[in-house]
Formats: sequence, structure tokens, C-alpha cells
Amino acid sequence: MRKLTGKDLVVASHNQGKVREIGELIAPYGLTARSAADLGLAEPEETGVTFEENAYIKAYAAASATSLPSLADDSGLCVTALDSAPGVYTADWAERADGTRDFAYAMQKVEDKLLERGAFEPDQRGAMFVATLCLCWPDGHAEYFRGEVHGELIWPPMGTQGFGYDPVFKPEGESRTFGEMSAEEKHGWKPGGGEPLSHRARAFAKFATACLGEAGR
Ligand code: IMP
Repeated sequence: MRKLTGKDLVVASHNQGKVREIGELIAPYGLTARSAADLGLAEPEETGVTFEENAYIKAYAAASATSLPSLADDSGLCVTALDSAPGVYTADWAERADGTRDFAYAMQKVEDKLLERGAFEPDQRGAMFVATLCLCWPDGHAEYFRGEVHGELIWPPMGTQGFGYDPVFKPEGESRTFGEMSAEEKHGWKPGGGEPLSHRARAFAKFATACLGEAGR
């Protein structure tokens, strides 16, 4: 496992919600995170069919353009009753005809498909969020870290915090959606530690242990 030695890290994402969350997760380690959008990097086409492939495409594009280690997150929502869709196409489901992304529209699409399948009861509405982090160096070497969180899709959407599909996702064992949680609650940061909550915080904890040493939270 290759370690991260310098303090500079490029966050290979143009998604503001993800960049904000990765920035929050990185902050306790004293790393300086610079986003691909701030650096003016082009957004590569995500042509992979797995979270790992798409994470590599984004991380390698940023690492080779900047000559700095780059961290990408490829993530999505996998709905059991929809045969794990939208999966790697989670962001695409939000796309409108004019090319803009609209997550109210995307959440409604998931809900309509659940209803078409007769998924009315909580135990028919299971889903998980997956996040795969890829840390890639300019020479192409890559390390991967995956986090998952299981839960249930609720309707109507609740809460205005977070981003993307957060207002319809209620993690197992919680009474509120991610959209109703503060950033600290969604990460699962509690006094005294314990397992993180969100898929991204879980993947990040593996990345931190493997590549950053013991410093930080
Ligand atoms: P991609 O990784 O850029 O392909 O996009 C993944 C999509 O999954 C995002 O655009 C979000 O809509 C959704 N997603 C990923 N993580 C989260 C999360 O933590 N909350 C809500 N939606 C998420």
C-alpha cells in the first residue's frame, strides 16, 4: 500500500457536494485539498461500468494533469427492488433534456419506478449508497477504498441538508434522512469516535488508515 507523503491533494471532482464533504473529511489531517474545478481541469467522460473504473478515470486524469496525487470519488445509489439501479448511472438519472442536473426530478424518477414495481412497504424499499475512493499518483499507481451504507428510501423527500439523493435516504437504525442531518451527523462523527455513518466517511476512514497514518480523528 503506497502512502501519501506530501500535504497537497487534488480532489478530482466537479461535484460541489462531494468536494465539500471530502474537504470536511480531509481537514483533520492537515491536508490541503484543491478541487479539479478550482484548478480548471476538464471533467473526463465516465465511460466505466463499475465505481472503481470511473473513480480511476477521474483520479488519473487529475493526477496526470497536475503531477500531484489525486483523490476521486465515484459513488451512487443502488436500489434493491430496481436490480441495483441507478448504480454507476446515479448522476445521469438527474439529467434533464437541456443537460442540467435536477435531483428533485431524479428522486421522483426513483420513486416512480419503485411504485411501478409495487414497492410500498419499508422492507421493499431497501437501498445502499456506495462510495469508491481512488487515490492515484501521476505514474498511474492507484489504491482503492470502498464504503457502503444500507438504508431505506422514504417519500416524500425530507430535509434540505447534504446533496443529491440525501432527502430520500434514511440509513438503517436512524430516524432521519441524510437530508435532515448536519454534516457531522452524516459523517457519523461522534465524541469518542466509533464507526463512521455515510458511505463516503466509511471509505474515507479506510483511506485515512491506509494512506495517512494515525493522525487526525
Ligand atoms: P458520480 O460519482 O459523479 O458518478 O455521481 C454520483 C451521484 O450519486 C451524485 O451525483 C449524487 O447524486 C449521488 N450521490 C453520491 N453520494 C451521495 C451522497 O452522499 N448523498 C446523496 N447523493 C449522493
